[in-house]
Amino acid sequence: MRIGILGNGSMAEALGGQWAKAGHELFVGGRSVERAREVGDRLGVRGGSLQDAAAFGEVVLLAVPAEAAVATVRALELGNSTLIDCTNAITHPGITLAVDAMAETISRYAGQARVVKAFNLAADSVWRRAPLSGQPLGVPICGDDQHALDQVAQLVRDLGCEPVHAGSLERARLLEATAAFAIGIWFGGGDTRGLFPPKDEAF
Ligand SMILES: NC(=O)c1ccc[n+]([C@@H]2O[C@H](COP(=O)([O-])OP(=O)(O)OC[C@H]3O[C@@H](n4cnc5c(N)ncnc54)[C@H](OP(=O)(O)O)[C@@H]3O)[C@@H](O)[C@H]2O)c1
Repeated sequence: MRIGILGNGSMAEALGGQWAKAGHELFVGGRSVERAREVGDRLGVRGGSLQDAAAFGEVVLLAVPAEAAVATVRALELGNSTLIDCTNAITHPGITLAVDAMAETISRYAGQARVVKAFNLAADSVWRRAPLSGQPLGVPICGDDQHALDQVAQLVRDLGCEPVHAGSLERARLLEATAAFAIGIWFGGGDTRGLFPPKDEAF
């Protein structure tokens, strides 16, 4: 796939590095073309402006701070790309959400692009290390467009992880709240791994 990345920070490098290794064509875009090219050079891919990345990608990863997400998307021509929203609008120190329905809000400003929420439930360090040992990490994805969901599911598998279809974009707000919930537990020294029963014993 041709993947454009909006942002040249931790998530851009973590996910971009994995997808480049998996053989995808990548373009890293940043508000500083120089910084985006530096990250692109480290990954062995091209770098440039945010708009160049948006135009390049049939899939576009939005990897900027949540507070900059809407303005970034509004300023770009995304065509009918698949736009992956991995943002977490987490407040500190309370670790709750500053914005209720980030992915849905982004979708309203993304023109014809089809938004999929994904990759917000684990840290960049986890994506860099994927696949983890043991049971493959499940990656919840929420969206309304089947082709976009299929593309993102493949990108999840390319990390050695397991896509978990978690419903429509309307449900992305639950995934956003889940991330805040989990981060609060991790920051408090707890573990989330054992929180849910296996499917066969869930009811
Ligand atoms: N890091 C994680 O573990 C993690 C996990 C899950 C989800 N996320 C989410 O992923 C997104 C990216 O996180 P990150 O850790 O990659 O952040 P980061 O390392 O701080 O990188 C942020 C990127 O966004 C750019 N940026 C900052 N302010 C901007 C603005 N006003 N307009 C346009 N671009 C701007 C930065 O550009 P400059 O280089 O020019 O400053 C940088 O390229 C966030 O929404 C975060 O909530 C992060």
